[in-house]
Order: sequence, then C-alpha cells, then structure tokens
Amino acid sequence: MQDPVDRSRRRFIFQTGVGLLAAASMPAWVRAMEMHGMPKLTPNRASPAFKPDVEIELAARQGSISILPGQATRVQHYTAKLLSGPKDTLTELPSCYLGPIIRLQKGQKVRIHFRNDLMEPTITHWHGLHVPALMDGHPMYIIDSGETFVYEFEVINRASLNIYHPHPHEITAKQVYYGLAGGLIINDEEEARLELPSGEYEIPIVLQDRRFNAQNQLIYGPHMHDRMMGFYGDRILVNGQPNAEFEVASRAYRLRFLNGSNARIYKLGWSDGTPVTVIGVDGGLLESPETFPYVMLAPGERLDVWADFSGRPKGTELTMRSLPFSGVLPMMAEHMGGRGGRGGMGGMMGGMGMMGAMALPVGSDYPLFKIRVTRETGESPKLPSRLSKIDRYTLDDVANPSKPVPIAISESPMAMLLNGRSYAFDDIQPFERIPLDTVQLMEIFHTSGGGHGMGHGMRGRMMGMMGGHGSDAQPEGQGMGGMGMRGGMGMMFSMAHPIHLHGDQFQIISRTVAVERADSYATVKDGLISSGWKDTVLVMPGETVRMIKPFHHFKGVFMYHCHNLEHEDMGMMRDFLIE
Ligand code: C2O
Ligand code: CU
Ligand code: CU
Repeated sequence: MQDPVDRSRRRFIFQTGVGLLAAASMPAWVRAMEMHGMPKLTPNRASPAFKPDVEIELAARQGSISILPGQATRVQHYTAKLLSGPKDTLTELPSCYLGPIIRLQKGQKVRIHFRNDLMEPTITHWHGLHVPALMDGHPMYIIDSGETFVYEFEVINRASLNIYHPHPHEITAKQVYYGLAGGLIINDEEEARLELPSGEYEIPIVLQDRRFNAQNQLIYGPHMHDRMMGFYGDRILVNGQPNAEFEVASRAYRLRFLNGSNARIYKLGWSDGTPVTVIGVDGGLLESPETFPYVMLAPGERLDVWADFSGRPKGTELTMRSLPFSGVLPMMAEHMGGRGGRGGMGGMMGGMGMMGAMALPVGSDYPLFKIRVTRETGESPKLPSRLSKIDRYTLDDVANPSKPVPIAISESPMAMLLNGRSYAFDDIQPFERIPLDTVQLMEIFHTSGGGHGMGHGMRGRMMGMMGGHGSDAQPEGQGMGGMGMRGGMGMMFSMAHPIHLHGDQFQIISRTVAVERADSYATVKDGLISSGWKDTVLVMPGETVRMIKPFHHFKGVFMYHCHNLEHEDMGMMRDFLIE
C-alpha cells in the first residue's frame, strides 16, 4: 500500500516539561521519540482497580475480503472478540470489512484491549463518546505495530450510534479508507421504553464511497486537488457492499445511518418523494420525530430514521438516493465541472490543478441502496410522538454570551486551517483553553484567505478587490491574529466542512448564511437538522453556525477538526485544553 504522507514534513521536537500541554497533562512516562510530530508515549495498561462489565479484544489488521465479483480486495479492518459481558455486545456485519457493531449500555464499565496488528502506527477514537482524555484516542497516543493500548471507560453517553475509527495524525484518512471503521451503539432505559424497532428491524446503514482499480484493489492516493476537495470514490458502498439492497416486511424499521465516507456529503431522499422521518441524530434521539423532504449527511454524522413500509404491497421497490445539490465545493471548482462532470477544467482552477472531472460528482443525483418489500404483515409498531427529554441550553446558561469560542475556517488554495493555524501538537492558544465544568457559546465561521497560503500583500489586495466585509471583532478580541476577515475573498475558495468536536455533545442554536452563497444554500437548507445533540455539524460555504457546548467531566486535551478526512490529515485540526 502506498503511503501518501510526506513523513519528513513538519518534524516536531518534543521537549518534556515545556509547553502548556506538557505541564497540564503529560504523564511522566513520555519517551523521547516522536512520530508525525507527536510524542511517543507508553501505551496505557489495564488498571487492576477498574472492574469492567464488558471486556473486548479489538485489533486493527490487514486482511482481504471479497467486495466486487472476482478478486478479493486487500483492506485494513477491525476484528473483535468478546472476553466478558453480554452476548449481544458484538455483531458482525456479514462479509464486510467494517468492524463488528459494538453494542454498549449506558452505565457499563468497558475495557477494550486494542492491539495494532498493522504495519504502521494507529490509535482508535470513539467518535461521539465522552470519555476521559487518555481514553479518547488522541493522536498523541498512537501505538506501534505489535503494541496494545488498553482503554477503560464508563459509558456516560445517552442512547446513540457512534463510530470507532483510527485517529493517527496525517494517516487517519488512509486508514479509514482502507476499511478501519465500525459502528458503536449505545442503548439506555429512556430509549428502551419506546420499544423502537429492533433486531432484524433495526438496520445499520454505513455509507462510504470508494475507488477500485481493475484488480478490485482500493485506490487511494490523494493529489493536491484531492486533498483540497477531499478524496471521492466513484462507487457507493453500503455496509461495505456495492449495489446494496435490503429485503423488508411491510412494517416500520429503524434505519441507523452513519456517513463513514472520507469526504462525500449525501443529500438523503426517498425516490418516491416520501419525507424522511428523523428520530435521532449524532447524540441520540430527538425530543420528537421530525420530517424533512431530504436530509444532509456529512462525514462523521449519524442519523436515526423511522422508515415505515406499512401498507406497501409485496414487490414494492423504493430507493434511497443522494439528491442533487450544490455549494459543497468552491464556487469555481463547481462551475468548472467538479459537479455534473460537464465542462473542462481550464481557467484558473485548472491551472492550479484544483479539480478533475469526478466520475460520481458530489452533489449529483445517484442511488445509494434499494429497499424491496418481500413480506406483507399487518403488524407494525407505531411512531412514538415523544421520544426523549432534552434540556435546551440558552444564552443564559453560557459562561461567555458575548464572546463565543471561535472556530474560524480559513480556506486558500494551499491550506485549510482552523483559527488560522495548522495542527501542531502542544500548540494550544489562549482561546483554546476552556475551564472545566463550564458551558460555552461557540461560533464556527469562514474567514478570508489563509494564514499560510497567501502572502499578506496578496491577501490584502484580494480583500480590497473583493470588498471584504470587515470583521465584527469578537474572535480577534480573544487573541487570534492574522486570520483575515470574514466574507470577501474567502468566498472563492469557501467550501463545506463537517466540523467535529470531541468530548461532550453540543446543541446548535443558530445558522446564518452570507447572501453571496444563498443560492447554493437553498439546495441543502431544508435538510439541515439543528435540533438534538450533535458532535459534528456541516458548515456550508458562507455559513456561520452558533452552538452551545458543555465541557463537563474530564480535563485534558480534546480535539476539534474537520471530518473531511483529507482536510483533517492536512492539519485542519486543533486541540482544546479543558482545565
Ligand atoms: Cu471521527 Cu476526531 O474524529
Ligand atoms: Cu470524534
Ligand atoms: Cu474541511
């Protein structure tokens, strides 16, 4: 397998005892080695005092699996074995590279022995779970081939579908692409009381896109333009299968979507125009069901859908499609044939090698999977009108009502940055330090230009040219320098980013979009869900998202980053230090 990562880049000399992070959370057993700019720590071991209710052995390894007809495909994948705990803890998806679904109960104490049987470093992150910093799979905890990291945590999340996936700095995208990912379902009593469809009536739907070569092998080798836009496959796999079909009875089902793609964003809609009934998102059930004409699902996001096939005669076919939309890619890339596959790539973007014609353009119209009714039944559970209780935060609850914690997106042809900086270990800025047990107002917004990509002179000129909007000063007030201003030039390179925050889930309180991008926004806006608990939010070009996030339970380093995995690996990732 080729390794697209330039390992010689941005070496980082780690000095024990220096820097915020070191002082705050660096254990004494730091080894003076470094890798991908990260320190090399001794893998965590089991603590005898921890008494697990569930104990699992999880391994990341190479393998080969039959995906397309003919030759098997070499993959990297998770395998797991239950050492102790309830029998239904692990469920294998049939002949699939995805790891088994791990099912946990709120309140359970879990120990996971994670062994790296790959030929390269890795570490596993429990996306969506709120666990102690040491158990969160931060890239600083990467382990080498042959090593084992022991995770121990108590499940404090509410019922929800989460993801386990690798998180090593600069090689996450490649490892996920080659197959390392799995679903992690949490159940709790509030959910159990609803008696939602379960067993064969609860179907996990993991959406991924992949490219294969003529020998059925996965192709991954992002060039500059793939890294800027994200790496897109030319075929859709559902639960690791091409041309997925599900045979159902004429009754209600619970479809649990997880977008496990590196970069692809979907606009989910039923082929016959049936509205999509949503009962939950990333952080679990909504207060009550909501219907949408379609739903946007970005990498890292999850969706709990109530799909009722009652009354549909045997033989009925229904397709879940990704419907057409625009605005995900920078304006110029879209107009130059990135979407729709039409047109050449000439001009400025072509010259920069930004965008080739995509075989399956993001935002085009294509099928994802088919539902076939093969059995008629008169019995079906009814959709509950109330699902769960969610205490909605308001500005009265936050510690910083007039000074949101900034998450500034800056985009340029050379770099995708957060808060004007590329990821660096132990580089926590004042506005990235958050007091434990506070509730914070946060704001994600786009800025113009990048901190690194463009010289100041050029950025300044372009700002003048495009008539920059000026900033409204709050973030600057928190000490971010050299970030450019909102609006203006940024619009040209502005694209969609699924921004993910580790730790506690958050609530979205508002979304606003710049008038310049209102047209493309109109093609997605009715499918953006702002209720419920979230850990990943799709931020469209020109869009500003405000949310409220509690920082409870655990001190230490928790990441925030773009879940377009190519962006993440490029450094569109930062740390918060909860202290
Ligand atoms: Cu799903 Cu920090 O990742
Ligand atoms: Cu995460
Ligand atoms: Cu991004």
